[in-house]
Amino acid sequence: MTVSEAPGASRDAALDTLLTRTSNNMLIEPVPSEQDLEVIFRAGTRAPDHGRLRPWRFVVIKGDARQEFVKVVQAAAKARNPAMTEKDMTMLAAKFLNQPMIIAVGTKMTIGKIPEIEQVLSAGAAAMNILNAIHGLGYAGKWVTGDNCYDPTVNAALGFKAPDKMVGLIYVGTEKMKLPAMERPNPADFVSEWTGPVA
Ligand SMILES: Cc1cc2nc3c(=O)[nH]c(=O)nc-3n(C[C@H](O)[C@H](O)[C@H](O)COP(=O)(O)O)c2cc1C
Repeated sequence: MTVSEAPGASRDAALDTLLTRTSNNMLIEPVPSEQDLEVIFRAGTRAPDHGRLRPWRFVVIKGDARQEFVKVVQAAAKARNPAMTEKDMTMLAAKFLNQPMIIAVGTKMTIGKIPEIEQVLSAGAAAMNILNAIHGLGYAGKWVTGDNCYDPTVNAALGFKAPDKMVGLIYVGTEKMKLPAMERPNPADFVSEWTGPVA
């Protein structure tokens, strides 16, 4: 049964987008146009945000700037692990250069009343909205993190100097090929109705 054949639901296109999104990092050009990016970031800035801090920051890495990003990541990786070989470096470069566009999503942290975790969560919500908007516009993407995403020197090079922080890199482009469909969990397995304190 495909999602759109699911019983009991009459859905609009937005809900269809939510229910059919799937991650893909096998991406090629075209990337979203400037007009599409405007829509994508509009979706990102619809994320809930406690205290109207507007903590989200989106950094687009595309074209030749990807080479510069790779240099930053390679230097950071080598500093963390001096044993990295030339082959490791080449593989690391390929990982990012294979992506036609990357959007770094992070938080501009305001230290004060609103807990830091809420600002990070808001950036996470923005990342999710961005992923859904990418899919809704007919593109594809994948949210990744890993050691380089959490490396302070990589963060700083992208404009996220502590306490600001990145929450992820979103690969963006057009699907080169469909990945095998992943079995999705039964939502009921994650839901319970609370009727009183849990023993
Ligand atoms: C915060 C966060 C970080 C992630 N980091 C990685 C990552 O570094 N590498 C990776 O392969 N998948 C990572 N994922 C998972 C993928 O984004 C994706 O959700 C997963 O491949 C399942 O695909 P789906 O989105 O179609 O369910 C991360 C997901 C989240 C929410």
